[in-house]
Amino acid sequence: MRLRFFTLLCLCCCWFVSSEGETVSCSNIVSSGFRSDNISIADFGGVGDGRTLNTKAFREAIYRIQRLTRVGGTLLYVPPGVYLTEPFNLTSHMTLYLAAGAVIMATQDSSNWPLIAPLPSYGRGRELPGGRYMSFMHGVGVQDVVITGENGTIDGQGDLWWNKWRQRSLQFTRPNLVEFVNCRDIIISNVIFKNSPFWNIHPVYSSNIVVRFVTILAPRDSPNTDGIDPDSSSNVCIEDSYISTGDDLVAVKSGWDEYGIAYGLPSSNITIRRVSGSSPFAGIAVGSETSGGVENVLAEHINLYKMGIGIHIKTNSGRGGFIKNITVSHVYIEEARKGIRISGDVGDHPDDKFDPNALPLVKGVTIKNVWGVKVLQAGLIQGVKNSPFTDICLYDINLRGVTEPRTPPWKCSDVSGFAHQVSPWPCSELSSNQQGSCANYS
Ligand SMILES: *[C@@H]1O[C@H](CO)[C@@H](O)[C@H](O)[C@H]1NC(C)=O
Ligand SMILES: *[C@@H]1O[C@H](CO)[C@@H](O)[C@H](O)[C@H]1NC(C)=O
Ligand SMILES: *[C@@H]1O[C@H](CO)[C@@H](O)[C@H](O)[C@H]1NC(C)=O
Ligand SMILES: *[C@@H]1O[C@H](CO)[C@@H](O)[C@H](O)[C@H]1NC(C)=O
Repeated sequence: MRLRFFTLLCLCCCWFVSSEGETVSCSNIVSSGFRSDNISIADFGGVGDGRTLNTKAFREAIYRIQRLTRVGGTLLYVPPGVYLTEPFNLTSHMTLYLAAGAVIMATQDSSNWPLIAPLPSYGRGRELPGGRYMSFMHGVGVQDVVITGENGTIDGQGDLWWNKWRQRSLQFTRPNLVEFVNCRDIIISNVIFKNSPFWNIHPVYSSNIVVRFVTILAPRDSPNTDGIDPDSSSNVCIEDSYISTGDDLVAVKSGWDEYGIAYGLPSSNITIRRVSGSSPFAGIAVGSETSGGVENVLAEHINLYKMGIGIHIKTNSGRGGFIKNITVSHVYIEEARKGIRISGDVGDHPDDKFDPNALPLVKGVTIKNVWGVKVLQAGLIQGVKNSPFTDICLYDINLRGVTEPRTPPWKCSDVSGFAHQVSPWPCSELSSNQQGSCANYS
C-alpha cells in the first residue's frame, strides 16, 4: 500500500531526441521525493460537498507548506468529494494529491478571479489586450511540485467562460487550468483535467516538466481549450495520455511576434509519446506563436481520431523565430480534414507594431511512418515567400482519402525537401533525391 504513495521525482531523465529504437522514456525517474509530511485539506476546513467555497482552506494549507518547510516536502491530500474553490497559487516542495473521487472544482464566479500581468513574451493577454486572469492553479518560480493521485479530477467549469467568450463580453484573457511560470522539476500525473476555461496545462519559461498518465477532456466546440502547451520551456516530456478538447491537443510555443522575439526564450527538447485523442484542430502542433524559436521536438506513437489536422506546424510573417529539428513518427490518423500541414501564414498578431519583415525560419522537419484513413487532403506545405521551408523530409506516409476529386492531395509552395514512399505522391517541390538533413534517412 505504501508504495503507491511514493512520489516519484524526475530529476535526471534523458530528454534528448532519440533516434528510433533507443526509446527513452520520462519514466527514467529518480525515486526521491517521498513526502513524509502529509496534511489533508480537511484539516484546514475543507468540505467536499460541492457547494462550500474552499478557497481559504487551499490557500491556508499551501501557505502552511510554504512557511513550515519539511525535509522532503509536504503532501496535501484531497479526500473524495467535490471541493469548490477560487484559484490558488502552488508552492515549492509540495504534492497535491487527489484521491480517487476527489474533484477540485473552479468556482464560476469570475468577479473575484484575480488579474495578473501579461506574459512578457506575449506583451498582452493572448486573446485580449491588457492583463489576464490568473490560472486556476498557478505556480510562479516554484520547483519540485507534483500534481498526482488516483485519477481525481481538476474541473475548470469552463462553460461560463466559453459563453462569455462567445458573447464577446470578456474584458480580459481567460484563465488556464494549470500554469507554471519560471518553474522547474514539475510532475503532473494520474489526474483528469476537465472543462478548462482556456488552455489546460501551460508550462512557460520552465524546465524539467513531466506530464504523464493524464486525461484531458473538454467539449469539441469549447473555444481554445488546448491540451498541453509547452511555451518557451525546455526538457518537457509528455507521455501516455489521452486528450480530447476543442483545440490543439499538444502545441509547442515560444512567444508572440515582437514580444516573443525580444524575450528570445526558445522551447527545446520536447518529447511527446503515446498520446491519443480527438480535436477539430491539430493533434501535434508547433506554433503558431514561435517567436522565441522551437527546436528538438520528438513526437512518436500518436493516435488521432476525428481531427481537423493531424500534424500542424504553423508560423507567420512577423513571428520571426525558428522551427528546427522537429521529428514526428508513428502516427495513426482516422478521419481528418488534413493529414499534415506546414504553413507560413497562420495566426494573428498581438498589435500593429509587429515587423512584417521578421520572417520565421523553418528547417529540418521529418515526418515519417504516418498511416491515415479517411483523410480528406493529405497535405499542405506552404512556406514563406522570402523564407522558404527547407529540409522537409517525408518518409513512409500513407494517407488514404475520401474521394474528393476537386481537392488535390497535396499543395506545396516555397518549400524544398525529400519524399520517399509517400502515398499519394506529394508535390514536385519535394524531391526523391536525398539532400540536406533529409540524407540522414536510413
Ligand atoms: C495522508 O493522509 C490521509 C488522511 O488524512 C490518508 O488517507 C492518506 O493515505 C495519507 N497519505 C500518505 C501518503 O500517507
Ligand atoms: C537539450 O538537450 C541537449 C542534449 O541532451 C542538451 O545538450 C541541451 O543542453 C538541452 N537544452 C536545454 C535547454 O536544456
Ligand atoms: C499568488 O502569488 C503572488 C506572488 O507570486 C501574489 O502576488 C498573489 O497575491 C497570489 N495570489 C493568490 C490568489 O494567492
Ligand atoms: C489512472 O489513469 C491512467 C491512465 O491515464 C491509468 O493508467 C491508471 O491505471 C489509472 N490509475 C488508477 C489508480 O485508476
